[in-house]
Amino acid sequence: MNILIIGSGGREHAFAWKIKQSPLCNQLFVAPGNAGTASLAGNAPIPVDDFPQLAAFSIENKIDLIVIGPEVPLVKGLRDYFESRAELKSIPIVGPGKEGAQLEGSKDFSKQFMLRHGVPTAQARTFHANETAEAIAFLKTVKPPFVLKADGLAAGKGVIITSDRIEAEQSIREMLEEKKFGDASSRVLIEEFLDGIELSVFVLTDGNDYVILPEAKDYKRIGEGDTGPNTGGMGAVSPVVFADADFMKKVEEQVIKPTVAGLKKENIDYKGFIFIGLMNVGGAPFVIEYNARMGDPETEAVLPRIKSDIVELLLATAKGELKGKEIAIEKDYAVTVVMVSGGYPDSYPKGKVMKGLNTSSGATVFHAGTKSKDGQVITDGGRVLAITGRGKSLEEAKQQAYQTISGISWEDVYFRKDIGVDLQKIESNS
Ligand code: AMP
Ligand code: GLY
Repeated sequence: MNILIIGSGGREHAFAWKIKQSPLCNQLFVAPGNAGTASLAGNAPIPVDDFPQLAAFSIENKIDLIVIGPEVPLVKGLRDYFESRAELKSIPIVGPGKEGAQLEGSKDFSKQFMLRHGVPTAQARTFHANETAEAIAFLKTVKPPFVLKADGLAAGKGVIITSDRIEAEQSIREMLEEKKFGDASSRVLIEEFLDGIELSVFVLTDGNDYVILPEAKDYKRIGEGDTGPNTGGMGAVSPVVFADADFMKKVEEQVIKPTVAGLKKENIDYKGFIFIGLMNVGGAPFVIEYNARMGDPETEAVLPRIKSDIVELLLATAKGELKGKEIAIEKDYAVTVVMVSGGYPDSYPKGKVMKGLNTSSGATVFHAGTKSKDGQVITDGGRVLAITGRGKSLEEAKQQAYQTISGISWEDVYFRKDIGVDLQKIESNS
């Protein structure tokens, strides 16, 4: 089978790595890919939202399965584009169409969806661009901390949490009146604050049936001890110690089943991943958000723990044949640490020559923002590498990741040294 992965991050390198292990995979391509995917697959220099070029490439290379990595091509309707053209519509695709991708593309849509289907979530009210006064009046009735969310895609920056009422009011004005996040903030949600511990659960569904992937915890803030600005993700750990069988049963019954049934009931043909961002509030799961894709860097910790042939599961998903399929999961731990360019998530330089990549051993090195130039690998983004250590314990996996990191460097490299430490504290207290 010829397979095309769309995207260029650590997530897509991890997909390529796992897909390549399948005997079902013949030729593998990544569009546009990075220096890491180039060592496993053919990189096609096509932007993720250039649908006509992706279509031409798929026909030319006889693609039998497409896996969509990031949210932008999902929300822009890559699936819908392929389905609208006779010569493309038979290609199986993992990733929902535009309608299903609204679960991620519009926080207002996903909130209403959760409420319609009884999925536990924070209370919220949505305000439109001409409703600044109403939004500020409503804020006066709410206790801090205040949670404000831009409705649309804002590259992980659209959520503001503050206990400062003046700052919250100012943020509402900036979002609704000054369009701080462009069209994404033409609607704003004011949401109840949930006090708990976060984790992410991943589901692969064909619209009728589903399999549950290993859960993970990610580390969003740039600084150690979860301080400083939000990033795309600085690390991930799987499994998550507090997600025991009892908690996961609640997630399946209260969240996963009503979500999949809700999509079906609303005639949304959903074939792909659902990433469920959850808050564990005193043992009860509440949904913070849905994403219509896998997480990055969570994928780099989750896929290595799957024993099953991932291509078999992806193909069954895309073809609506998941019924009866099972997923086998390793009992081990995976710890992923992201190495970033100094300055990230603000501005950072690119083009730094990376050292130690060829001699690294132990952990698996997934590339994110990298490219090859004149026979060298150079940095080409904020998040540059995702290093996944494995082990029988969290400590062993963590040590393997940090050991490998110690052999890799470039000018002004930065990474968090405390990935997994909070979970180890919970582990030792339980
Ligand atoms: P989101 O983009 O919706 O995932 O939100 C980004 C982050 O904000 C989440 O990962 C949480 O850490 C935090 N967050 C979002 N909604 C809430 C909430 N209702 N209560 C507490 N924290 C939240
Ligand atoms: N790591 C969070 C995300 O992929 O959205």
